[in-house]
Amino acid sequence: MQNSPKRYTITAALPYTNGPVHIGHLAGVYVPADIYSRFQRMQGKDVAFVCGSDEHGVPITIKAKKEGITPQQVVDKYHAIIKQSFQDFGISFDNYSRTSAKVHHDTASDFFKKLYENGKFIEQTTEQFYDAEANQFLADRFIVGTCPKCGFEESYGDQCESCGTSHNATDLINPKSSITGNTPALKETKHWFLPLDHYEPWLKEWIIEGHKKDWKANVYGQCKSWIDDGLRPRAVTRDLDWGIPVPVEGAEGKVLYVWFDAPIGYISATKEWAEKEGKDWKPYWKDEDTKLLHFIGKDNIVFHCIIFPSMLKADGSYILPNNVPANEFLNLEGNKISTSKNWAVWLHEYLEEFPNQQDVLRYVLTANAPETKDNDFTWADFQARNNNELVAIFGNFINRVVVLTNKYYDGMVPEPASFSEVDLATLHELRAYPDVIASSIERYRFREAQAELMNVARLGNKYLADEEPWKTIKTDKERTKTVMFVALQIAKALSTLCEPFLPFTSTKLKDILNLNNNVASTPLSDQTNRTLSGAEEWNGISSKQILIPSGHQIGKAELLFSKIEDEQVQQQLDKLQATKKANASTSSAQAITPQKDMINFDDFTKLDMRVGTILEAEKMAKTKKLLVLKVDTGIDVRTIVSGIAESFTPEEVIGKKVTVLVNLAPRALRGVESEGMILMTETPDGNLVFLNPDSEEVKNGALVS
Ligand code: MF3
Ligand code: ZN
Repeated sequence: MQNSPKRYTITAALPYTNGPVHIGHLAGVYVPADIYSRFQRMQGKDVAFVCGSDEHGVPITIKAKKEGITPQQVVDKYHAIIKQSFQDFGISFDNYSRTSAKVHHDTASDFFKKLYENGKFIEQTTEQFYDAEANQFLADRFIVGTCPKCGFEESYGDQCESCGTSHNATDLINPKSSITGNTPALKETKHWFLPLDHYEPWLKEWIIEGHKKDWKANVYGQCKSWIDDGLRPRAVTRDLDWGIPVPVEGAEGKVLYVWFDAPIGYISATKEWAEKEGKDWKPYWKDEDTKLLHFIGKDNIVFHCIIFPSMLKADGSYILPNNVPANEFLNLEGNKISTSKNWAVWLHEYLEEFPNQQDVLRYVLTANAPETKDNDFTWADFQARNNNELVAIFGNFINRVVVLTNKYYDGMVPEPASFSEVDLATLHELRAYPDVIASSIERYRFREAQAELMNVARLGNKYLADEEPWKTIKTDKERTKTVMFVALQIAKALSTLCEPFLPFTSTKLKDILNLNNNVASTPLSDQTNRTLSGAEEWNGISSKQILIPSGHQIGKAELLFSKIEDEQVQQQLDKLQATKKANASTSSAQAITPQKDMINFDDFTKLDMRVGTILEAEKMAKTKKLLVLKVDTGIDVRTIVSGIAESFTPEEVIGKKVTVLVNLAPRALRGVESEGMILMTETPDGNLVFLNPDSEEVKNGALVS
């Protein structure tokens, strides 16, 4: 175990350049990574905080097809937008690169070649899905079908977005081409596979035994379940024309799998940065004294905890991640954030509607971060946290301190008289916060850390409310000076402690306090005008030093935060409502599926469909969609697993008359054998409806014909 490493390589998931970034990205990945990086820099650590655009992969080519432009045009457009959003929100990357950069193509190619030459891959010809009409192999997202693990019907070929499982396209039930909608054929093709099964014993030791205590429960749990399920070789190449060409002979028309090249992007981004800075990139990836951390969302866990580490291990010259503090998902007003459904708060749009209020969003997203479970972002909560916390606590405290200092002393920090017990206790309490906040950040508990930061502002507010300098100014001028002096120390501490969370506010507050130029928190005996390092500034709060000295001239009052009005919130809600309507009308416009291929009467009579009654129902554990039903079919009472749990509670379906396909071959779903299928139809907004006879007199077992 490293205790206090000097060097940090901090990565944040490379966003796909098939759309702009939204609040879910910021909350799950970029804000926590930024808080952590800013904090470590303030501690004087050598930090490389890297990211970049993930520009390969099927989603980009799908987007290009849809918009009638080239994949390169797609990535150029979104790379620019995304990069700007990160900059606007103060995400302090040392380098934001992109996977179309030459340095990345070279790095990823070389990485592949080295593994290839060292015999780390299995070369295998297998059958892959092929769409004859589109004349292409169907990699990853070009295939949609039912997830074999959870029954989600729109799982992608490589990963199910509902349960997070990663699988091979050929594992899907009822696969369809997402280009033509056709059922694909299988066709032989050669690929290179990383035999993950070889790494299983090592992964068990490294993760299951080695990181049980220090990795987050959600991350550890996912890893353990994958490893326990048994790992299989994974193809690291694809038949596609967009990506990094496979750099070996006999691989024409093939590219590296996007999940093979993208994480190598972290290395390329570090190289590019080191080159610019005149540094050596290698210690950041190869020196055991470096702490490597990957900040990601939960859908990326398998790639960062199992596949990429296996690649690094296969190479043999790299360090491994020390931690992968993945977050769960953020929902928006009760629904899953979705780029394709435009159900999102886009960062560039937020800034147009709430100009200069980046820190408000950073604050709310951290306060409500999905650290241990999925969370919901609501505009009402956004408004409440701004008005009741940032404005009423933090802003109010600073405003009172600055206004009163200007009013009583023309902005000059007064000379304190003698400190009362309350003063000393308050200063003592203040000195504890840097360590408390640091310890939460070190454990990736950013909500907790930020809550402690707010407690510093609360401490200041309470102190002013109790000591009432606006009253003592009339009776005891010396006392007032002491109180204002103490309050100013708290204000100064806040300007330092809030920097990782609220960087814009920190700068603004330091400007107001006139601290951006060489004003030192120095021992009284040593009031030289030198600039303090971040570590001196942060840790200085815990010492008995004076943080802002008497005689220092502060600036004029300026509001740090402003109230968010009901109309602004309503506007956002209206916008979402409009999105909902637009989605409902496009989905009903698309809802009419074309007629299927002809069948003959014999085909039809093969189907044995009967009326039945649901007798019992319960939710299948650990799934969102599945109910386990006991159905009286007239012939027998049997178990049927049905994907209707999002439309019905178990109580609602008990006693319902339904139509059942009874001679469907049984199949196991999550270990429960399902003996038939309940026939359903769907409303335009996706609610399921049973098909049942319009007469009470029909009895169980009656044939449908
Ligand atoms: N583009 C991926 C996503 O948005 C993340 C890639 S992370 C990297 O889910 F490791 F591959 F870079
Ligand atoms: Zn699934």
